[in-house]
Amino acid sequence: MDLSADDRLFVLTGAGISAESGLATFRGSGGLWNGHRVEDVATPEAWEANPELVWRFYSMRRRDAMAAQPNAGHRALAAIEQRMGDRFYLCTQNVDDLHERAGSQRVHHMHGTLFQSRCERCGVPFADTALYEGADQLPQCEKCGRVVRPHIVWFGEIPLDMDGIYAELDRATVVLVVGTSGSVYPAAGFVNIANRRGVRTVYVGPEEPLNAHAFNDIVLGTAAEVLPGML
Ligand code: OAD
Ligand code: ZN
Repeated sequence: MDLSADDRLFVLTGAGISAESGLATFRGSGGLWNGHRVEDVATPEAWEANPELVWRFYSMRRRDAMAAQPNAGHRALAAIEQRMGDRFYLCTQNVDDLHERAGSQRVHHMHGTLFQSRCERCGVPFADTALYEGADQLPQCEKCGRVVRPHIVWFGEIPLDMDGIYAELDRATVVLVVGTSGSVYPAAGFVNIANRRGVRTVYVGPEEPLNAHAFNDIVLGTAAEVLPGML
């Protein structure tokens, strides 16, 4: 990928970038966890109905993410950030911390992060690596006593800092999308915003995403295979 000193690179990653680190993608794994559809444990309705189940799901994901290591795809993105500085912007739909552990300095987690929680009422996110897996292990807020939830954006909730994302999309000159099926909005629509401005759009992944037609280039291959050479 040719990038000049004037280029600004906007990168969007999805579950595929962490696949080679051993973390299951959503659609790839059949979208099932313990017989539940992921959509059924990642919603405000699921939280209302069964917070213990939701915490068991996110506790497992915390455990899996802690055991995983960043791969060459994460590292390639950290390396190009080093070179481009603030002309580079990384937005991820992933809630794992593998981008950070690969050395990325500024990562925007639009769907929240696994290793933060927040009180339902106070709403302020705090660092939390604990596992809540027992039947009556729901964490409570130290200040007000209300239940503490994962700091995750569930289906039906609004992704974090959309204004910041749109501002970056507005000044990007190249948009690179890696490892996302193009099925969850608003992220799946970022490429259309880039197209309206006529900037170059590239997708990297082992198969075509649902919105493949919207990209200028599709590079078929895995993130760890393709990104180190491309960047
Ligand atoms: P998906 O599971 O929908 O898609 C994963 C994509 O990664 C697929 O298109 C695969 O082809 C691709 N892929 C698989 N292995 C890869 C590899 N080694 N390198 C590169 N790509 C690879 O995951 P997302 O699109 O990220 O939302 O899902 C979007 C959102 O839906 C998630 O953030 C989550 C989910 O439900 C919330 O939880 C709110
Ligand atoms: Zn509180």
